[in-house]
Amino acid sequence: MSGRDLPPFRKLSEFLSFLESEGDFQRFEAPVDIHLEATALHRKVIAKGGPALQLTAPRKGSKSDFLAPLLVNLFGTRKRIANGLGIRPDKLPELGEFLASLRSPQPPKSLREAYKLFPMAKAGLNTRPKRIGSNKALEPTDPDLCQLPVQTCWPDDAGPLITWGIVITRPPGADDPRTYNLGIYRMQVLGPKTAIIRWLPFRGGAQHYRKWQQKGDTMPVAIVIGCDPATLLSAVIPAPGDVSELALAGIFNDTPSRLAPCRTIEMHVPESAEIVLEGEIKPGEVALEGPFGDHTGYYNDAASYPVFHLNSMSLRKDPVYLSTFTGRAPDEPSVIGDAMTDIFRPILRQAIPEIVDVFLPPATCSYRFAVLKIDKSYPGQARRAMMGFWSLLPQFSMTKYVIAVDGDIDIRCWDDVMWAIATRSDPERDLLVLDRTPVDQLDFASPVEGLGGKLGIDATIKIGAETTRSFAEKLTMPAEVEARADALFAGLQATSPAGRHIQ
Ligand SMILES: Cc1cc2nc3c(=O)[nH]c(=O)nc-3n(C[C@H](O)[C@H](O)[C@H](O)COP(=O)(O)O)c2cc1C
Repeated sequence: MSGRDLPPFRKLSEFLSFLESEGDFQRFEAPVDIHLEATALHRKVIAKGGPALQLTAPRKGSKSDFLAPLLVNLFGTRKRIANGLGIRPDKLPELGEFLASLRSPQPPKSLREAYKLFPMAKAGLNTRPKRIGSNKALEPTDPDLCQLPVQTCWPDDAGPLITWGIVITRPPGADDPRTYNLGIYRMQVLGPKTAIIRWLPFRGGAQHYRKWQQKGDTMPVAIVIGCDPATLLSAVIPAPGDVSELALAGIFNDTPSRLAPCRTIEMHVPESAEIVLEGEIKPGEVALEGPFGDHTGYYNDAASYPVFHLNSMSLRKDPVYLSTFTGRAPDEPSVIGDAMTDIFRPILRQAIPEIVDVFLPPATCSYRFAVLKIDKSYPGQARRAMMGFWSLLPQFSMTKYVIAVDGDIDIRCWDDVMWAIATRSDPERDLLVLDRTPVDQLDFASPVEGLGGKLGIDATIKIGAETTRSFAEKLTMPAEVEARADALFAGLQATSPAGRHIQ
């Protein structure tokens, strides 16, 4: 039995056909300039929860003979993210439970129990990637990055940017797909055959790079632009423990990932790839990358990152070039981040059971603020929950502010959260201030790069030794009175005079 709700999407075109049948994919024939215009259009579409958009006539000034149309906004809604994983959106929390079980130090007692709890486990236990002989669907072409409709997203960007390439790396030694890392890292195009790969130092790709550097060897790198949606999303989901992204894709697809050999380097890439770039990074060669507009809503500083040399470029027949922009929310990474909270939540609850729910507001760069709803039963518990949160996953060390509230507060409603802070916290007693903790490298508000403070706000009702005073009773109306008032209000709306209608 499969955990999928939807038919298999073996390649991107099958997913796009599905989205089209759901009214969730649109082709747009008008010429759109890949210099700024595509980003400006995409921002308007994503802000309205609009469809995945294939811009069939990308142009750059007068140039319009690109090798592929431009696909943007593929994962611009929670629904399309869930659908890409093969499920309906309401099943995302269940998927989170399943992934938490893969992390669990105590595996389910028996395989039968695992299958019963999480039907996807069956596929999960058989996910070793499968190597195939060759990929006939891919045709080599003149290796030239300038033939792709690579967007320039923001006016002061340092150049065109490949934004949705899956960068596939491996450690030195024999080519073994089980050791591969897949991550989405932006790439600044320097010329037809060169680009800079910006992997942040703690990313899987950067870790492999350091191993090649230590040996002083040239590092092979394969980049896939566009492929089946589960593999695309596996490259951004924080994979649990030692489960590789390819294994994760196999779990979502309910069948092991199929990999075809590269033409010029000792590596394999997903068979579903639309565009494959093969190349290498020479030992010690770096270049200044950026500045580029980023998800923070600002331009990053320029910094040195390794240079990728393109050896070979292969395309599927009628390929699409997948792209996006990063900027102040809403952008695709912020929508993905929001959906990923469903995946984090069970992992969090496994470790800190009093955390009932967590919300990372997309407007706060998706991770710099967290609101925790806790089931509080003893004094000091909000502080314990906040400290546990910061320590649990490496990415939570980038959360600068944590607000802990009680179970009656709607953590997605700012008015409710602000009310809790205003009425349940005292600045002298309820602020937890930490200094010199790890923070986002991209956070220029911290005094030094990578090191800064944290603030926890305990906005829960104080109990026991936390206070000498008793908290006042919260105003509520009896449920039956509310129900009668709802009916009365409906009558009021129906009879209100034209022009003074109460919404
Ligand atoms: C559109 C998009 C662009 C991204 N760009 C970058 C980037 O430039 N550098 C980076 O380190 N992470 C970037 N990320 C985040 C990583 O891809 C993501 O955290 C991934 O899980 C990292 O995988 P890894 O831990 O295996 O390295 C981006 C994510 C998305 C969705």
